[in-house]
Amino acid sequence: MSGTNQRIDGKRLWDSLMAMAEIGATPKGGVKRLTLSDVDKKGRDQFKGWCEALGLTVRVDAIGNMFARREGRDPKRLPVLLGSHLDSQPTGGKFDGALGVIAGLEVMQSLNDLNITTEAPIELVNWTDEEGSRFGHSLMGSGVWAGIYTQDKAYNLRDVDGVSVSEALDQIGYKGEHAAKPFPADAYFELHIEQGPILEREGKQVGIVTGAQAQVWYDAVIIGQESHAGTTPPSARKDALVAAARVVTLVDQLMRARGEDGRGTIGFLQIAQPSRNVVPGEVRFSVEFRHPDDAEIKTLAATFPAEAQRLVAETGCRLELTELFHIPAQPFDPSCVDLVRQATQRLGFSSREIISGAGHDAVYVARSVPTAMIFTPCKDGLSHNEAESIQPDEAEAGCQVLFEAVLARANR
Ligand code: GLV
Ligand code: MN
Ligand code: MN
Ligand code: MN
Repeated sequence: MSGTNQRIDGKRLWDSLMAMAEIGATPKGGVKRLTLSDVDKKGRDQFKGWCEALGLTVRVDAIGNMFARREGRDPKRLPVLLGSHLDSQPTGGKFDGALGVIAGLEVMQSLNDLNITTEAPIELVNWTDEEGSRFGHSLMGSGVWAGIYTQDKAYNLRDVDGVSVSEALDQIGYKGEHAAKPFPADAYFELHIEQGPILEREGKQVGIVTGAQAQVWYDAVIIGQESHAGTTPPSARKDALVAAARVVTLVDQLMRARGEDGRGTIGFLQIAQPSRNVVPGEVRFSVEFRHPDDAEIKTLAATFPAEAQRLVAETGCRLELTELFHIPAQPFDPSCVDLVRQATQRLGFSSREIISGAGHDAVYVARSVPTAMIFTPCKDGLSHNEAESIQPDEAEAGCQVLFEAVLARANR
């Protein structure tokens, strides 16, 4: 590494990542830290304790987003934000989200160690419910903060056990007193694992993220009729699962028609009352499509619902489809992206420009704050998987780039 001689501590970063990974650790080496669960509370408490030990002031907003502030020299300057999320998928990995938060902590600690007072204040953020796996809306905390969902809408979302976001926030004591709305900020930087195979395939140490792809998410319910498995002949069946299978195939076809850039996934599917000898009467599932080109997602949003309705109607069942959200492709801020590019080049890391395939809080933050992201490679491109893995030197490289980009912005 060349660049400045101001270094973050890669060993300390790794130790903190491993300490966070113990909270909600799964037997297969992953993490289960579902948003607003008791385990999430432990992770949040740990994070808060670490921040306070560094002299940062922590505040929590009404949707549970946590902001840890380090003052700058100039009280008139807007803060430079950095961060990511500590919640995980039910069978998540150690690094999705945690890397950006824990690397932010390492940036703060390094600034302390190096006795650096930045011109602008710096705030490290842990966004609530990035994953969306518990309450059905990914990017929830950043979405409320950015004004994309109302707080009431978010509060009323419920998990499969009927617990609302509002109740869950109260239960873990993280419904803060600060309003969840955008405050003026100078910039936002988020370090994340790529969650895909491109950097690893090309042997690049750093991804300079120029934007994120478009996506549309749905909730689907198919209503058929429960009936006896042994006595109901084909002509009398209204099998909701068979109807769902047609939609599963449709989603796959629509994705494949778009080549290697297409994405279409049904990651959740449930027979409402599963029983071996009952024809399924109701099936609930999720659908999501993604593509780097807005026009492709617009076309899908315009055509998929009617196509799916037609296929389901042919089976004698009925489809209720609700569009949950539609996020256009989000380009990041050229001046922030350039700070990441310059830091990467100064440090001598191999790199490439890349569009994010995953959604990130940065996508919503970017609507009101100049934003950029940094990616590190991950093993076999695997994420949303307990086997998700990165190397300590990859985490260190990403964190060093984050440090330099944040410092350059805060001192400009
Ligand atoms: C968030 O994890 C996403 O689905 O991109
Ligand atoms: Mn993530
Ligand atoms: Mn994720
Ligand atoms: Mn994500």
